[in-house]
Amino acid sequence: MERIKVSAPGKLMLMGEHSVIYGHPCIVTAVDQRMGVSIGESGDNIIRIHAPEVGLDNFSLAIQNLDTAEVPKGAKFITVGLRNFFRRFENPIGLTIDTSSEFSSQFGFGSSSAVTVGIIKGLSEFFGLSLSNRQIFDLSYQTVLDVQGVGSGFDLAAAIWGGTIYFITGGKEIKRLEVENLPMVIGYTGIKADTVSLVKKVSELRTEKPEFIEQIFSSISSLVQKGKVLLEKEDFVNFGKLMYANQELLDNLEVGGQKLSDLIYAARNAGALGAKLSGAGGGDCMIAFVDRKDKVEVENAIINAGGVIINARTGAQGVRIEK
Ligand code: MEV
Repeated sequence: MERIKVSAPGKLMLMGEHSVIYGHPCIVTAVDQRMGVSIGESGDNIIRIHAPEVGLDNFSLAIQNLDTAEVPKGAKFITVGLRNFFRRFENPIGLTIDTSSEFSSQFGFGSSSAVTVGIIKGLSEFFGLSLSNRQIFDLSYQTVLDVQGVGSGFDLAAAIWGGTIYFITGGKEIKRLEVENLPMVIGYTGIKADTVSLVKKVSELRTEKPEFIEQIFSSISSLVQKGKVLLEKEDFVNFGKLMYANQELLDNLEVGGQKLSDLIYAARNAGALGAKLSGAGGGDCMIAFVDRKDKVEVENAIINAGGVIINARTGAQGVRIEK
């Protein structure tokens, strides 16, 4: 069988993180920095994986050991994805798998979700199955839950469908929004966020103070509903105000952090229309919406506050086959 190469974009959450785990909606955009996955036949019963960005450098395992192999956590998205695909669709065969990423796994752009989607889509094409986006989502989501136990799947939807998406937990609703490139500045904190422990922290808070936390979730949810309408009208001024409101609610969930706040306030003081953390919190990236005339000033303010500007276009194309 012919070697196949696919690529999937990274993502950034625009609004609705954390509450999306609990049945609420969020808005996410795909960014044009991509994860490439190539798959070919190895000719024996061995799976050879070269995926340096998730901690696997020329790793090999026998196909019967897919379930039991000891691999770093990031690489589990590959081995568990393979296992789930073989269980559901094909008899296992030996493969060589290579990944290459245009972005660092430290940014919070969703390298695990992009690699998972790349593996499932790549296998689908390699075996000539042409699975639908929905089938790719369901198998990828199963894989993410098997590996890390938590997650709404929003990042997988961005990697598969691309564009800017309104999303409800587990893919109950996935809707592409009619909005082109967003006026967004991305500031990287230099700190790696630990998504699983931040999700756990919010879950503990919710057990401790259920009414308070549910109130915050429904406030975030109504910001997302309003935000969806504003984005489709390209009303970035009012969308920006909602971003600031979302940020305050995230601070109430205790998922912010000093460095994120420094960058967000710097952007705010330099005239950003809106700014907030993007993703689990604690670190990774913040995002700001800006009027074109203020872009350089906002970027400089973020840099002076200790952030790194990442240039990436939003609304990127979803997973695709590369020639
Ligand atoms: C993390 O990027 C966003 C969370 O809402 C987790 C998820 O939705 O899977 C915290």
